[in-house]
Amino acid sequence: MDSVRILMVRDLLSFNVLLILIFASTSVNAGPVYANTEWTDSHATFNDGNNAQGTMGGACGYGNISSRGYGLETTALSSTLFNSGLTCGACFEIKCKVENSTWCFPNAGSIKVTATDLCPANPAMPTNNGGWCNPPRTHFDLSYQMFTRLAKAEGAIIPVQFRRVPCVKVGGIRFTMNGNPWFNLVLVSNVAGAGNVVNLQMKSSETNWFWMTARQISGQYWELNQNLMGQNISFRVTLGNGKVMIANNVVPANWNFQQTFESDINF
Ligand SMILES: *[C@@H]1O[C@H](CO)[C@@H](O)[C@H](O)[C@H]1NC(C)=O
Ligand SMILES: *[C@@H]1O[C@H](CO)[C@@H](O)[C@H](O)[C@H]1NC(C)=O
Ligand SMILES: *[C@@H]1O[C@H](CO)[C@@H](O)[C@H](O)[C@H]1NC(C)=O
Repeated sequence: MDSVRILMVRDLLSFNVLLILIFASTSVNAGPVYANTEWTDSHATFNDGNNAQGTMGGACGYGNISSRGYGLETTALSSTLFNSGLTCGACFEIKCKVENSTWCFPNAGSIKVTATDLCPANPAMPTNNGGWCNPPRTHFDLSYQMFTRLAKAEGAIIPVQFRRVPCVKVGGIRFTMNGNPWFNLVLVSNVAGAGNVVNLQMKSSETNWFWMTARQISGQYWELNQNLMGQNISFRVTLGNGKVMIANNVVPANWNFQQTFESDINF
């Protein structure tokens, strides 16, 4: 009798636990746990020389990557890795293949960088001589500062190994409101975890809190044709590894264009 009752209590308990787990994993933070990828062979070059020009612009749309918190720890990706901008914000660990190049600093260890730009293909050049970023090659065009942590600049191109790693960011996910009342253009930045947003949904009080899917315009710019002026806005962010987070009421009703709002959550 007692053991039956205990069993029932236990079952009830585990049932409750199950319910809570199911609820937690379908509402927020669904998807697989982040896992580093395998080390993979590739190559790296550097761009822009020893100045800060490389911190402006970039195909991911982050603008001034220095003020957006990416610093100089950035890279451009060949189109194979860039995946039409859906890899923007992803983080990579890169090490020089010391055994294959005398340009590598033997004790440099590895660097970690965030993808902020595209390294365009150069079809006029062969893939093994100048056309480093041509498909199907994987390639990293690093900031000068990051390249020279791994190898001598004279090396110009170095053999490397890379793997995806979780992004570590300070603070919450940031949403910058651009565009105009008929075309909201939202830039999503400072994303931790897998780092790369692959789907963005928005909802507001006046749209009855119905999730509307934004369209990727370029890089990490997402467009929604819906007038959301004067309304609270929430975001549902999906990353490349399937993880989902909801940032509720991040944008207050009195928002304006050009403003950036930081949520209190991150991956
Ligand atoms: C980019 O942001 C940094 C840090 O806020 C600032 O010092 C720098 O002047 C900015 N660069 C440009 C070109 O606006
Ligand atoms: C890189 O180094 C490894 C280990 O010494 C060697 O087996 C391999 O053939 C080298 N690859 C190239 C492209 O030189
Ligand atoms: C809008 O957001 C504020 C907090 O920023 C909250 O107090 C308010 O209830 C929200 N309004 C609606 C209609 O959800």
